[in-house]
Amino acid sequence: MLKKVCKSESLSGEITIPADKSISHRAIMLASLANGKSTIKNLSSGADCRSTLSIFKQLGVEINEIDDKTIEIISNGKLNKSYLPLDAGNSGTTTRLISGILAGQNFDSEIIGDESLSKRPMKRVILPLTQMGARIDSIDNHLPITIHGQKLHGITYKMPIASAQVKSSILLAGLNAEGQTTVIEPYQSRNHTELMLKYLGADILTYNNEITLSPSILTSKDIEIAGDISSAAFFMVAGLIVPNSDFIIKNVGINPTRTGIIDIIKRMGGGLSILNNRIISGEPCADIQVKYNDTLKGCEISGEDIPRLIDELPVIAVLASQADGETIIKNAEDLRNKESDRIKCLVTELLKIGVDIEETPDGFIVRGKSKLKGNAELESYNDHRLAMSFYVAGLICEKEISINGFEWTKISFPEFEELVEKIK
Ligand code: S3P
Repeated sequence: MLKKVCKSESLSGEITIPADKSISHRAIMLASLANGKSTIKNLSSGADCRSTLSIFKQLGVEINEIDDKTIEIISNGKLNKSYLPLDAGNSGTTTRLISGILAGQNFDSEIIGDESLSKRPMKRVILPLTQMGARIDSIDNHLPITIHGQKLHGITYKMPIASAQVKSSILLAGLNAEGQTTVIEPYQSRNHTELMLKYLGADILTYNNEITLSPSILTSKDIEIAGDISSAAFFMVAGLIVPNSDFIIKNVGINPTRTGIIDIIKRMGGGLSILNNRIISGEPCADIQVKYNDTLKGCEISGEDIPRLIDELPVIAVLASQADGETIIKNAEDLRNKESDRIKCLVTELLKIGVDIEETPDGFIVRGKSKLKGNAELESYNDHRLAMSFYVAGLICEKEISINGFEWTKISFPEFEELVEKIK
């Protein structure tokens, strides 16, 4: 689907951000592994979380859909073999986290995915799970994979990269393994798995970047999911670059392992106000007021910043195009392993509309401020975050742009365009 985007004069009003994708996946998985009944409120309606939901239904868990954002999960904590392959669709989180869960079951499973997911690296989970005793067959560490369920044992694993998906996969395997499992991260990545495991009664301890879990039985509890800061990021950037904008983004999860975008906006001199701080099912949440700012300055984003804003880097490139001076992104090579090669694809497309951006092996450099000319067709490469980042750029282009493959926004944020319309 080709989507046309025109320049916007200003954005104002109020929007509520839909549920966090990462927390939604974990809520479905952990409620399915817990004993009892849980009601999950404000679940993400994105296609990625639908993939997780279908897989757990296929594994025999009773999941009742109460309305489009509320589900009820009734489980005895046990999963059943599925004789059909489990289809993770486009979702890396689904694949990597369920690999950890399935590795320790007493049955075999096969996981398949779409074209993009089938190109993404799975060695990062196959390697540590194999050290725990898992038996996983694949061709060259890509989907489809067959997991032969085994009794696993705990390990201490020093992760070569900061990845919440890898960390979570190992911890979920550790839930049902013999002995303790310890994961050590080079930098802290999102900790939603740890928080939810603790919320459901698991024996888990975090000390600096080291997490230790003992095999645990989870107890069902109702879970309410905060809004997704990665979705809110598109609106934060839009509000900062579209002249005369001033609006409120309600219900944004502000877990400190995810707030890299807020820190970077402050580092660049942008103003955001964090209002109504609260806790929802163990996760911090707030409303955010964003205002247009024409005095942004470039900055360096690297090292421990990266896992705290990894999914926001494409839209940060758009923000950096409106900041004076250089914005340098380093140590983000893993961006090449996302739904697309987000470094190469982002640079190729933003150059078309007049952004001064240069690809580097582990990131990119943006030189601002540039007037964005538009008048181009941009390719989304079937990548939801690229499609939405280009849409935000389109709001300040002199001439209309079109985005090919815009329907892929359904992966994480089907409500995106409706919410932009609300504040236009
Ligand atoms: C996610 C972790 C991140 C992120 C992805 C969701 C998660 O991936 O990019 O969109 O829910 O754990 P990595 O942990 O592989 O960096």
